[in-house]
Amino acid sequence: MLTFDFTNLSVQKVGTTHGLDLNTEVQKHHNALESAIRELYESRNTEGAWTKWLNLGKHQDLAFALKSYAESAKGKYDDLIVLGIGGSSLGGIALLKALLHPYWNNLSNEQRGGYPRFHFVDNVDADVIQGLCDVVDLKRTLVNVISKSGTTAETMSAFMFFKDKFDQTLENPEQSLRKHLVFTTDKQTGILRELADRLNVTSFEVPDDVGGRFSIFSAVGLLPAAICGLDVAEFQRGLQDLEAVLSNTNPKENPAAQNALYQVLNYKAGKPISVLMPYSTRLAFVADWYVQLWAESLGKATSKTGETINVGPTPLKAVGATDQHSQVQLYNEGAFDKVFTFIEVETPDNKTIIPNSLPEVSALSYMANKGFHELLTAEFIATRSSLTRNQRPNATVRLPKIDAYHFAQLLYFFEVQTAIAGSLLNIDPFDQPGVELGKQYTHALMGRKGYEHLVAEAKGDVPLSAV
Ligand code: PA5
Repeated sequence: MLTFDFTNLSVQKVGTTHGLDLNTEVQKHHNALESAIRELYESRNTEGAWTKWLNLGKHQDLAFALKSYAESAKGKYDDLIVLGIGGSSLGGIALLKALLHPYWNNLSNEQRGGYPRFHFVDNVDADVIQGLCDVVDLKRTLVNVISKSGTTAETMSAFMFFKDKFDQTLENPEQSLRKHLVFTTDKQTGILRELADRLNVTSFEVPDDVGGRFSIFSAVGLLPAAICGLDVAEFQRGLQDLEAVLSNTNPKENPAAQNALYQVLNYKAGKPISVLMPYSTRLAFVADWYVQLWAESLGKATSKTGETINVGPTPLKAVGATDQHSQVQLYNEGAFDKVFTFIEVETPDNKTIIPNSLPEVSALSYMANKGFHELLTAEFIATRSSLTRNQRPNATVRLPKIDAYHFAQLLYFFEVQTAIAGSLLNIDPFDQPGVELGKQYTHALMGRKGYEHLVAEAKGDVPLSAV
């Protein structure tokens, strides 16, 4: 299981100006935390509550369906291209980057065990989209289009591009196109659902009442995982085991509730920036996923009761040890406006040693015959200690190792923490009204029917006084 260390958030460690009296705060907010946990877990079967992501660990039928699809796909494709954006891509990227070989796409087919290379298209960058065609053989490529709404311009334009490429490349596209596509979308509605039916394409569901940024453990993240040979049941086992801990309504025994409280108290005490810093390159994309989860869930204009409040901590990504040589100067000496969460991995898959290959260089001998992981851990402890000494509050989440079971627990911990933080901030963490206006303006600028009235506004031609 994961373990948590919150002591460096305390007054004892970072002083009275920047620290919290941890036990007293949990006691003081006991009722608010208890009802936040209870309401969250009780809402998991409520229609329209958008908390059905809490049930994803229990979908054994999904695990079975994904496994059998992946088995039927194995050996047929050299490349998997995933089209999606935001909640429809960030989880999958984080998952595959963490759990597959770090140089997966450079391995031979045999080394990959017959599973395909993977590529995510999560932007409308013509050079990247076109460039992908230079490195894949479309006749041996599977495209997974992921869009809950089925209308997202970035994803659907990329699909239009690859459909055209398939139409040009495949010998008998009417018959064979469907073999190169698999969709992940809403059960009933949206363009992608209609296309799945019309083109007779295999499809998987984004379950009802699961928002994009909470959807990683649905087919959104688990289908690419299964296609690349990962065991879906292991993720689900991790989720179920941690649920037993995080559904505990006693905040004294619930680390997600505690860290949600500490994050919110730091935010309210003038620390609006929440840094997530995994000490692991393999987990670097977990920080990207967290940035979306935290920002889109907690950055809100109005409270649950309709008052304008404009709240939201700002998430920031860092990777250790890399960013020690980039951001840590600011962290140690800059404004006291940040709270840190480190992710530590106890045991790496490789116990590679730094060999004593320069015995004549005495200045480097202190590292010789020690593990790379020992050096990384020393750098982590050193950075954490220096931040603590400089009165910068920080927490640590520790994974025994990076595998499907613990990866699922790590992300589930952040999901529950986010939901409880939303409750403490008195906002709805499951909507995202702030991204809608930009989407509508894009439609207007691109000439979509029905959006003509927004063209002037979208071009920025409306004076502020008229808004
Ligand atoms: O978290 C979210 O809800 C968003 O980031 C969506 O996932 C993103 O906008 C993509 O939406 P869709 O899956 O409908 O294409």
